[in-house]
Amino acid sequence: MTFSIRPLSDVLAAEVRGVDLREPLDDADRAALNEAFLDRHVLCFRDQELDKPAQLAATLRFGPLDVHIQRNKGDEISLVHTVSNLDADGNPKPEAAAKGNLRWHSDKSYRTVPSCATFLYAVKVPAQGGRTEFANMNRAFEAYSAERREAFRGMKVVHDWVRSCRKSGEREASPEEASVYPPVAHPLVRRHPESGREAFFIGNHASHISGMDREEGEALLEEIEAHSTAERFVWRHQWREGDLLMWDNRCLLHRAEERAREARVLHRTVTRGTSPF
Ligand code: SIN
Repeated sequence: MTFSIRPLSDVLAAEVRGVDLREPLDDADRAALNEAFLDRHVLCFRDQELDKPAQLAATLRFGPLDVHIQRNKGDEISLVHTVSNLDADGNPKPEAAAKGNLRWHSDKSYRTVPSCATFLYAVKVPAQGGRTEFANMNRAFEAYSAERREAFRGMKVVHDWVRSCRKSGEREASPEEASVYPPVAHPLVRRHPESGREAFFIGNHASHISGMDREEGEALLEEIEAHSTAERFVWRHQWREGDLLMWDNRCLLHRAEERAREARVLHRTVTRGTSPF
């Protein structure tokens, strides 16, 4: 395949043109895309035409699927989750959009094996607004002093799905979720398994610091998140229909910028990662 890759900002993200994700990728194409993915952390594939089975097939070319116990129970199509602000009658309703997505997070960081890449495909998006924001956790970590970086390296952060649901005001976690996803301690600073770079592993699912006074740990996490999501580490994606965004949860936080007033429908798939170290 002949395609082009163009950076979209100084901080992160690149646009990919000329790839049809319905087609298989050869080894050289995959290697070029993977190199760009490791360098830019977000790839925006323009002008895609993907129904749910095609998105699933495209995702599986990049890695094994990560499933969600509530959403991914049935057949192949239900493996592709719909992110939507439509009400039951199909009309846009800002309150219908998930609250949890408005908070900075890394997908499924509350699991012992968190997600690798998320694939979000724009089916219907507003012309303005409704952006998705990304923050670069490599750069945020590297911007601290050597002394503080060393202190952070020794810390473990507990990620907790039950607490995350409460913090976002989304809903209570179900008893099944609570038993399948107990709190898990991850390194506060994780090393990327492919690039080797260090990044904060924080966000809304992060609850407190292991072995530190609870309030002190929460305050530290707030401080790091505020530092890490400052403008100089952030890039925002204004969606166009047909965009397929692929991002790296191992070194980014993301969130929806707002609850859009116009219709906003995206299809999401996620690949499984590895245990953070
Ligand atoms: C997500 O958090 O996975 C979705 C983000 C968005 O809706 O922009």
